[in-house]
Amino acid sequence: PFAVTEACIQCKYTDCVAVCPMDCFFEGPNFLVINPVECIDCSVCVPECPVGAIINVAEATDAQQPIVALNAALSQDPRWTRISKVKEPLPDHAAWRGVPDKLHLLAY
Ligand code: SF4
Ligand code: F3S
Repeated sequence: PFAVTEACIQCKYTDCVAVCPMDCFFEGPNFLVINPVECIDCSVCVPECPVGAIINVAEATDAQQPIVALNAALSQDPRWTRISKVKEPLPDHAAWRGVPDKLHLLAY
């Protein structure tokens, strides 16, 4: 499957959800995740993300393993809901774009 990584946190542009044929993105307060069970590895979402946040799990680094695991866990969390329509990005998206190490900011 594919997974959303921390570049998405505090930005949440949502361009990715418009193209997913499986509607397998789930939304939390400041991040999106992909349900790895539903993802069919089509990869069409990857170039849609303006911050390059989406990766192929098969190519994830050791450092990316925790956020890969969060995609699996949070897509099953009842507080996270399926999203298939593009919406406005978060208000401070421009300030957070490209900022490294945002995982500690992840909200539930
Ligand atoms: Fe959806 Fe395809 Fe991206 Fe998986 S790789 S999340 S199926 S668009
Ligand atoms: Fe996040 Fe990129 Fe989608 S910022 S919401 S993964 S378009």
